[in-house]
Amino acid sequence: MLRTRICDLLGVEHPVLLGGMSTHTTPEMVAGVSNAGGLGILGCAAMSPESMARNAAEIRAMSDRPFGMNLLLFMANDEAVSGVLAASPDVLSTAWAFPQADLKAIFGRAHEVGIKVCHMASTVPEAQRAVESGADMVVAQGTEGGGHVGVMGTMPLVRMVVKAVDPVPVVAAGGVGDGAGLAAALALGAEGVLLGTRFLASPESPLSADKKQAILDSDGHDTALTEIPDLISGRVWPGAYARTKRNRLIEDWWGREGELRYRRTEVAALVAEAHQTGDPDNSVLYTGQTAGLINDVRPVGDIVRDIVADAEDILKNRIPSMLNP
Ligand SMILES: Cc1cc2nc3c(=O)[nH]c(=O)nc-3n(C[C@H](O)[C@H](O)[C@H](O)COP(=O)(O)O)c2cc1C
Repeated sequence: MLRTRICDLLGVEHPVLLGGMSTHTTPEMVAGVSNAGGLGILGCAAMSPESMARNAAEIRAMSDRPFGMNLLLFMANDEAVSGVLAASPDVLSTAWAFPQADLKAIFGRAHEVGIKVCHMASTVPEAQRAVESGADMVVAQGTEGGGHVGVMGTMPLVRMVVKAVDPVPVVAAGGVGDGAGLAAALALGAEGVLLGTRFLASPESPLSADKKQAILDSDGHDTALTEIPDLISGRVWPGAYARTKRNRLIEDWWGREGELRYRRTEVAALVAEAHQTGDPDNSVLYTGQTAGLINDVRPVGDIVRDIVADAEDILKNRIPSMLNP
């Protein structure tokens, strides 16, 4: 059975993590991934401390396994950090801090109450900063991923981060959609993988049926790295671009970002309406390039089990057969 250092660190059976995708994660997704032996992470960006407590209780009602809670540090105030710590997950998952953020103080508060810290980085310096601030593990997230990402590809980034923060364990994210992705990440020196897009196409995911279908329909070539969603929301992310499906909304505004800046309020209202109705064409549909590998809506537990079984098969049979032809 495949076991890596993060299995012991996190107290899980399999080195497969659910990305803490803000409102795109639910207690059902988190519990489903954790019950299958992975680590479910609930996205808590923009969640009140009361909601954090309620959601953590819901997860605990469905699972007695370890789980994490995620904060986007550039928009997390002290109340949000306290809210997550009070909800007492096993792991505090963090991402996208401004350079002036005091990571050491935040990570130290988590450690004081026995919570492990996992920070996501899209550059080597950010990974080093996380480790110097006390992170227990680092997620190296490449540009292939859905949601907010940097510009480095997963393959070089993971390898560089592994070398830069050794012996702190690294998890690969961005572009991992199946067992082959897990096997590849292990070959790069990572101790596991974190997936976002693959888990969006599951019954437990809160996406509308039309949005799930849009992911299934995607061939993976139709995503774009763009600032359009952030111009619409008016949020300034530290060094991130958004990877979304190149749908009608993105096509309409591609190359017209200047105009979008002064029509932001009007467009934001239309996007909010499209979001309400689950319209995949006119809302922001964050998806990564692995959409091209996703052909079914599967329960999150099956996704975890399939990834691990396929990776084990590759490592046990395919790779050794190349060594002893
Ligand atoms: C819809 C969506 C929302 C996301 N929101 C967050 C978030 O709030 N916090 C975070 O740390 N990562 C977030 N991410 C990034 C994921 O955690 C993960 O790094 C990424 O999805 C991995 O790439 P993949 O989509 O190829 O699996 C989000 C990703 C997606 C697709």
